[in-house]
Amino acid sequence: MKTCVCVIVGFVLMCVSAVRVDVTTVSLDGLDSVCSNAYEIKEGNELHLVSKGMVPKSMCGVRLNVQRSQNCRGVCFNLRSSNFADCSARLVTTEIHFGEMVSDVIRAESCKESMEVPWCSSAHTLILDLIVDDTATNPKYNFSATVYPRCGDDVVYRPPSRLAMEEKTKMTLIHGIVVGICLCFAFLMLFFAAWCYYKNHPNRGYTMSTVSKA
Ligand SMILES: *[C@@H]1O[C@H](CO)[C@@H](O)[C@H](O)[C@H]1NC(C)=O
Repeated sequence: MKTCVCVIVGFVLMCVSAVRVDVTTVSLDGLDSVCSNAYEIKEGNELHLVSKGMVPKSMCGVRLNVQRSQNCRGVCFNLRSSNFADCSARLVTTEIHFGEMVSDVIRAESCKESMEVPWCSSAHTLILDLIVDDTATNPKYNFSATVYPRCGDDVVYRPPSRLAMEEKTKMTLIHGIVVGICLCFAFLMLFFAAWCYYKNHPNRGYTMSTVSKA
């Protein structure tokens, strides 16, 4: 019985760790502000950046690097919520391409411009700047954004090249096979669990009917 339980628990933990996303939330506000910090984001991780309009300086920049891996090339950005309606602040993102023949792309969110989200880029470095109007006496702005590595079939905002498309198809296929095998194993485990249970409780049916009659 113990072996059965161990195998099942082990399998469940394996599956959970395969699909887990670790989210780290950091704030640009107040004393714990992460302004001027740099972050490394690994596959399966997400960095959640938030501000409720209390950034200590009128300029706050955060550098974000995403780790390269076989499955992940580039960075994705999503603005989950934002309010810059009073025009006191602007959120500017700059994707940095080192040594590539691709120009850096700047996008902004403010009271007069809005970026289409989520977007992804082949860049591995992203600079996020929150620029607050020095002359605003009572600035009211806020935002919540997520940065994560572009992995597998994440959306690509820029038209993808043929090579990238082929790679994407390949990754989707691999992903499908992995999910298929996982599902197959899940069903096998279910049967295995049932078998384990009945093997260890051979009198279960008899006991049940006795109890219900009593
Ligand atoms: C964001 O700012 C708007 C306008 O000041 C406010 O109505 C809203 O509650 C704020 N949201 C958060 C999450 O602070």
